[in-house]
Amino acid sequence: MGETNLLQLPVRMRRLRRTSVIRDLVQECQVTANDLVMPLFVKCGLEQPEPIESMPGIFRYAPAAAIKECEELFELGIRAVALFPCTDVSVKNEHGSEALNPSGLIPSLVREIKRALPQMVVICDVALDPYTSHGHDGILTSDQLDVENDSTVSVLSQMAVVLADAGCDWVAPSDMMDGRVGAIRQALDDASHTSVAILAYSAKFNSAYYGPFRDAIGSKKAGGKAYLDKGTYQMNPANAREAVRDALLDEDEGADLLMVKPAGAYLDILTRLRHSSELPLVAYQVSGEFSQIHAAAKLGWLEYERTRDESMLAIKRAGADLIITYFAKEFAQELTTNT
Ligand code: PBG
Repeated sequence: MGETNLLQLPVRMRRLRRTSVIRDLVQECQVTANDLVMPLFVKCGLEQPEPIESMPGIFRYAPAAAIKECEELFELGIRAVALFPCTDVSVKNEHGSEALNPSGLIPSLVREIKRALPQMVVICDVALDPYTSHGHDGILTSDQLDVENDSTVSVLSQMAVVLADAGCDWVAPSDMMDGRVGAIRQALDDASHTSVAILAYSAKFNSAYYGPFRDAIGSKKAGGKAYLDKGTYQMNPANAREAVRDALLDEDEGADLLMVKPAGAYLDILTRLRHSSELPLVAYQVSGEFSQIHAAAKLGWLEYERTRDESMLAIKRAGADLIITYFAKEFAQELTTNT
């Protein structure tokens, strides 16, 4: 039966890799529907869901269709959604004031989702980029060359209250201004929203992987440049220690969950945060991570399902508790059909 013990090895790692059942039994981590959050893009006035060219299988939904989508997701076991508006240019301005409109697209949708599906966890981004004419996440300085920190934080705090008033469960500041978590916590508490949690985009890097998302929400162009440079607020991709400092500050200011974004190219950051904080850790597998797998698969260069699953497993293994991913729905669909 066995082979000759030529090497006289006391330890043989392959014993536990012998069959797929054994491999399953000793598997260290797993991705389940319970770990996933589905991002949803919403836009007014659409008759049909509108495909996003650079993100195969992902659509912009009108509010009514978004609610239907939430119902399907919940049924599949995806019980958290992150909402992103595609705002019409006509409501954008330099100050992003539409972000404070209590009957705007997102606050109205949040009310309807919570009415239809009270158990669905609704996560709302807090940042001005969908609402500003220049596409930056905050208010510009008078020379228009940078984003002002403190005045932006004050608008974001009001925005968080508008979203909490609408009924969202978690507000997710994605702007990377300093001091915003503390200011938002204070504003929420002053407005008696003590049970609305803050999911802090703590380590959000100035990444090229956001390209397809900016197409999706239409925030990309600034003057002649194809993509905005958000380098004065988002983090330098080279810096890991700085990510830990920023995350610990967010924790001190009252963040309930910490996020690393993007995920796949920043697994070391996830692992470091897993060791530096006891807070739940969220990873955002961003648009570019999703689209690059699709693109390579379309060229026949990568096997689609295996690459997708491996990409999510790696994020989980690195230390994430939750993964925000555009793969969430189809992954849950396959889980239900395969069991
Ligand atoms: C901006 C925001 C971005 C994403 C989520 N919120 C992009 C950016 O910083 O320009 C990116 C998500 C993705 O790429 O999937 N507030």
